[in-house]
Amino acid sequence: MALLTLSDHLHDIAENSINAGAKSVRIVVKETDDEFYFSIEDDAGGIKPEIMEKIFDPFTTTRDKRIRRVGLGFPFLRQAAEATGGYVFINTELGKGTKTEVLFKKDHIDCQPVGDLPGVFLMLLMNDKIEWHITRCYNADCYEIKSDDIKSYIGSLDAPEKVHILMELLNELENSLQKK
Ligand SMILES: Nc1ncnc2c1ncn2[C@@H]1O[C@H](COP(=O)(O)OP(=O)(O)O)[C@@H](O)[C@H]1O
Ligand SMILES: [Mg+2]
Repeated sequence: MALLTLSDHLHDIAENSINAGAKSVRIVVKETDDEFYFSIEDDAGGIKPEIMEKIFDPFTTTRDKRIRRVGLGFPFLRQAAEATGGYVFINTELGKGTKTEVLFKKDHIDCQPVGDLPGVFLMLLMNDKIEWHITRCYNADCYEIKSDDIKSYIGSLDAPEKVHILMELLNELENSLQKK
């Protein structure tokens, strides 16, 4: 994945949780006029200490190295966040899970564009074995998406029409935020 937008970074870090076998993932996105913060918290058992030690070094991975461009998620994320004056914090507990917190300062000239956040939420929610809980705020406006709610409104995402309904819903929620 080319990590061209802040939403791509979020997607990439959430995919780590999926790859690590998370059953439940909590995402919070808090954007203001000048900052973009997100956190991703999973129950995937934590990051092994020997990986954690060098997680920001390129090519640190437990995935198959024959796959293209593995082990670059966290290094690229840190580079992109710190270039704006922001940060990446990883809090991991072995046997439990991992919480990653990221800040980008949008007013910095090197900050990447926010990108297609509802599109990324859709891609993630398509993994409907995982219990998702997403909170998205712009200044004081927020919306929330939970797997349970999607199941009761739309049912399982087993047909293109249903995915389409969800996509429209996500775009509507995003457009309901009062942005500058
Ligand atoms: N949420 C997570 N839970 C458990 N392990 C993780 C998690 N996120 C990352 N890791 C570990 O850190 C490694 C590096 O992650 P990353 O930099 O995104 O590269 P990649 O996903 O390509 O391996 C992963 O291979 C995995 O072993
Ligand atoms: Mg990754």
